[in-house]
This record gives sequence, C-alpha cells and structure tokens, in this order.
Amino acid sequence: MEILRCTNLTKTYGQGSGIITALDHVSLTLDRGSFTAVVGASGSGKSTLLHMLGGVDRPTKGNIYIEDTDISTLTLEQLAIFRRRKVGLVYQFYNLIPTLNVRKNILLPILLDGEKPDEARFEKLVNTLGLSDRLTHYPRELSGGQQQRVAIARSLIYQPALLLADEPTGNLDRKNSNETLELLQLSNQQYKQTVLLITHDEKIALKADRIITLEDGKIVSDEVTK
Ligand SMILES: Nc1ncnc2c1ncn2[C@@H]1O[C@H](COP(=O)(O)OP(=O)(O)OP(=O)(O)O)[C@@H](O)[C@H]1O
Ligand SMILES: [Mg+2]
Repeated sequence: MEILRCTNLTKTYGQGSGIITALDHVSLTLDRGSFTAVVGASGSGKSTLLHMLGGVDRPTKGNIYIEDTDISTLTLEQLAIFRRRKVGLVYQFYNLIPTLNVRKNILLPILLDGEKPDEARFEKLVNTLGLSDRLTHYPRELSGGQQQRVAIARSLIYQPALLLADEPTGNLDRKNSNETLELLQLSNQQYKQTVLLITHDEKIALKADRIITLEDGKIVSDEVTK
C-alpha cells in the first residue's frame, strides 16, 4: 500500500537565462513501511525533493499525495498542521529554535498542538539519542552532532507515518551515526514508519530497501536492494 505519490514534480528557481531546474519531472511512490535512500551528487536536487515532499516548499509543477491528500490543495495553515502530525522532517541544517531549550525543541510539534507529551516516550527517545543531560541547554550550547540528534528526536516524537531526513547522520561520528541509523530502522520496523533518507554514505544507503539516485534533478536509477 502506498503512503506517498508524486507525479512530474518540477521545481525551478530564478527566471530567464538564470533559471535553474532543481527538479525535473520526478515521479515516485513510496510504500507504507518502506525504507528508501536517496543519493546523488551535490546539487542534484535531493534536498529540493525532500522539501517538496514534506510540504515545506511548493513545487513549480506536479502533484504530491500523502495518504491520499493532495497537499497542494491545503492552505498554508492546514499544511503546517498536516506536516506537524504526519511528517517528521530532519533538515540538512537542523532548523532548531534558538530561543527554546532542548526539551522544548524536541516537544515543539506536540506543544504547538496543545497536547500533553508522553513522558515515557520522550525519555526513551532522549536516552537513546544521548541527550538526557542536555535537556535544559540551548541549541547554541550544543555541538553540531548534538543539534542533529535534537532534530532527529523532534522528528520522531510524534511517531509520524512518514519520516523525511536530509543527511541525518552527516555530522555524526561512526558510533553515533550507527546508533542513529539503528533508531531509524527500529522506528521503521516497529512502528511501520515510512522512511526516506538522503545520504552521501554508501554504507548507509545499502541498509535501505531501495536506493533512488538523482542526477540533475532527474531520477536516473531506482533499485530495490532487498
Ligand atoms: N533557493 C534556491 N535558489 C536558487 N537555486 C537553488 C535554491 N535552492 C537550491 N537551488 C539549486 O537547486 C539545485 C539543487 O539543490 P539541492 O539543495 O536540492 O541539492 P542537493 O542534492 O541537496 O545537494 P547537497 O548534496 O549539496 O545538499 C542546485 O543547483 C542548487 O544550487
Ligand atoms: Mg542537500
């Protein structure tokens, strides 16, 4: 069963002779519970694809359906709520809120919804990510890898059906990187979360069920590895 479908997704930046086609008619579907890696050279359109699929930016052309909702039909406010509840997003450059401490950054999606956090789940998550002694710290007081782990915790706190992660282990050492990957695999297997992960690391890509390769904004290869 599919959870996400996009058709002829195209994104251009700029205009006239300076026009850049970051995504060029990309169509793909993701099955519920699948684990997919997206690879490709720098500038090939990976982050652009992720931002479109996660509804943080609108495509120039094409459609995106998540759980049968055409996200282009949502107003900005509806989209923000939809994203917060359904999609966990880990950006390439963390996007933490500088004025909130670690605990609040992680719980932000839940706090914005006016819900009560599940403390047991929160504790388990911060322990696994090695953040339990940093909860009252602010993002500027953290290392790059710690900030990245806060961003991952925030994306997982809601157990979103769809997790989109842009180089989630890009700033981590091998040990932290392996642990983070295991956490993503566990969420994928235990909670049937669908994971789409961008990576430059071949070892990580090979752990996915499927590897999509982008080149100049196009899918040039789409392989099932398992
Ligand atoms: N806001 C923007 N304005 C203009 N061009 C942009 C913008 N964002 C991205 N681009 C261009 O779109 C193309 C794709 O960028 P994108 O960030 O998706 O690449 P990427 O595959 O994620 O690369 P990296 O591996 O370096 O993160 C690049 O040529 C980039 O310069
Ligand atoms: Mg990128």
